[in-house]
Amino acid sequence: MKIAIASDHAGFDLKVEIKEKLIKEGYEVLDFGADSEKRVDYPEFGLAGAKAVIAKKADCAILFCGTGLGMAIMANKVKGIRAVPCNDLFSVKLTRSHNNANVLCLGGRILGPDLAWEIVLTFLNTPFAGGRHLRRINEIKRLEKTC
Ligand code: RB5
Repeated sequence: MKIAIASDHAGFDLKVEIKEKLIKEGYEVLDFGADSEKRVDYPEFGLAGAKAVIAKKADCAILFCGTGLGMAIMANKVKGIRAVPCNDLFSVKLTRSHNNANVLCLGGRILGPDLAWEIVLTFLNTPFAGGRHLRRINEIKRLEKTC
């Protein structure tokens, strides 16, 4: 499984910790920057990660900023992206099974590395439930064409 990752300065440390763990677990990781804690603006990094999913270069993306919020706002501008800022386990489980989220956004100023890793594992290992939820995802796809 290929995972795109990206961060700004505020998500950089958490990105590095999660990247190491993903590689150790055997995931292929495509890192779209940033490459240091030097202050940068999150939108271009978030856009690169989200575009990698739509271009099928990656199966999903994990984006890191201070809160996860700015990254999610940016990623959701890309048609076909369902990006969620998730800083708890209940939300990440439900957003995978109900919303088939394809981009996870994490807050480096909110989460410690252990909880962040649990959230990532839940994101990667919870299947989409389909059924009535598929109907709703298809509705999103239909409506986003009109936006
Ligand atoms: C950077 O200071 C911060 O605004 C950014 O990382 C992010 O949290 C925005 O949503």
